[in-house]
Amino acid sequence: MGGDSALQVGIDMGTLTGGQPAKLDIEELLATRLLVQGNSGSGKSHLLRRLLEQSAPWVQQVIIDPEGDFVTLSDRYGHVVVDGERSEAELAGIADRIRRHRVSCVLTLEGLDVEQQMRAAAAFLNGLFDAERDYWYPVLVVVDEAQMFAPAVGGDVSEDARKMSLGAMTNLMCRGRKRGLAGVIATQRLAKLAKNVAAEASNFLMGRTFLDIDMARAADLLGMDRRQAEMFRDLKRGNFVALGPALSRRPLPIVIGDVETSARSSSPKLMPLPDAVADVEDLIFTPDPEEFARPHVRRVPPAPRPTTDILAELSRATPISDAPLPSVEPRASAPVLSAEEREERLSAVLSEILDDPQSGYRTDAALYQDFLVRARMRRVAGPPMALGDFRRRVAVVRSGVDEETAAGEAWGTALMLSASVTDDLQGVFLMLAKAAIRREACPSDAKIARAYGTHSARRARRLLGYFEEQGLIIVHADFSGKRIVGIPDLQAETAPGAADAPDSDDGALAAE
Ligand SMILES: Nc1ncnc2c1ncn2[C@@H]1O[C@H](COP(=O)(O)OP(=O)(O)O)[C@@H](O)[C@H]1O
Ligand SMILES: [Mg+2]
Repeated sequence: MGGDSALQVGIDMGTLTGGQPAKLDIEELLATRLLVQGNSGSGKSHLLRRLLEQSAPWVQQVIIDPEGDFVTLSDRYGHVVVDGERSEAELAGIADRIRRHRVSCVLTLEGLDVEQQMRAAAAFLNGLFDAERDYWYPVLVVVDEAQMFAPAVGGDVSEDARKMSLGAMTNLMCRGRKRGLAGVIATQRLAKLAKNVAAEASNFLMGRTFLDIDMARAADLLGMDRRQAEMFRDLKRGNFVALGPALSRRPLPIVIGDVETSARSSSPKLMPLPDAVADVEDLIFTPDPEEFARPHVRRVPPAPRPTTDILAELSRATPISDAPLPSVEPRASAPVLSAEEREERLSAVLSEILDDPQSGYRTDAALYQDFLVRARMRRVAGPPMALGDFRRRVAVVRSGVDEETAAGEAWGTALMLSASVTDDLQGVFLMLAKAAIRREACPSDAKIARAYGTHSARRARRLLGYFEEQGLIIVHADFSGKRIVGIPDLQAETAPGAADAPDSDDGALAAE
């Protein structure tokens, strides 16, 4: 796309205070993403529609539409309407075909309950994300009411649905760029949107905001002081303050212009398409025979484990030292352990669980539950280890680090570096760091996959790509094609290793 000047398009979002057109640089937007914030009725959906209509001729679009508002784009701009009431596998398949055939679409989630909406959106977003490299063309991925899909805190829905949806949104915003996915998200309550998701947007359009907490978050994101952010309180409907590389270098008030299509169709269902585009439908909804041969990336997490949530909740709620322990704690009979004894027992329980080769494929929540139960059986008194600490220790154990390496300075740096990636990736990063520090052979795809809790070698390679994007590692090969991972911050690199070597602990790993 880079050198193609035809794609350097400034679309017209509306007008500036002086009446000049307010431009949005689409090419820049693809690289830097957009967050729209404003209370209900401030004009966010209208703004998104303006953006979609103006950019429709220039870029493929996918809209995650909780209310079925955007299905009206279909008539004029040819978006395929996908009803979210389908199985997750079906949605992932459709999303994949949307990318392969470069067709714009609206995923309407109207009529589904919140949990179903989250699952459907996640399956679809993951399908877009998992497209093969050959199809990483640029797509604007617009998510209206994004706080629903990337909530800052757990709500009424199952932990499982929340994780799935938040994971998909995080992928979109944090890792989508390389795959051509450009997130455009709108939220009515900034404080309700997961911070990591909001933080990845470099462009902002801020509309009317009246809660202090949202204003404070907006000010932080925009790098304004809080008094300055007071201006968001008085914005009229359709008025937004624009900031970011695709919009303006300084906060700039703009008025969003008119739209061509209306906000609602009488029927949000699949619209009959004119003959000319009937083929597109067929293309999108019918799997190609060859697809059946392709393994599907499985992301569907196991059944919810409410007990885990309760246990985790308990452990979080327990203050470290002061307050008496909850009444469910064992009676006075629990022996008093010294700090070392306690640590020893906890380590023993931890290795017991992680020594099982299958443990890599169990969710952290399941392992954690197991851990808490076993710790209690062994009468390890005191407040249970918090989930965050547990994950951290699992990551360290999974890295396979030995005592000598763990005591070294380089390992301290590796731990610090690992903090910059999400919990679920730390173990993999530490495994690479350990191999680099000790100059061991670069772990194979299979080994990386297992540390990441997947059977997919493709996901393992993708993970390396992600670390590389983040500047954490450099992947190259020796003369014979063996892989070497260098970690610049450690000034160390692994010895060459065969990427396709089988995983010694688990030969059953699926080859892809
Ligand atoms: N810039 C605008 N020009 C004209 N009408 C607008 C504008 N922005 C919003 N509206 C209208 O105001 C109402 C609320 O806008 P909407 O975009 O649905 O708000 P939100 O999505 O923030 O809740 C809608 O009826 C919409 O058509
Ligand atoms: Mg809206």
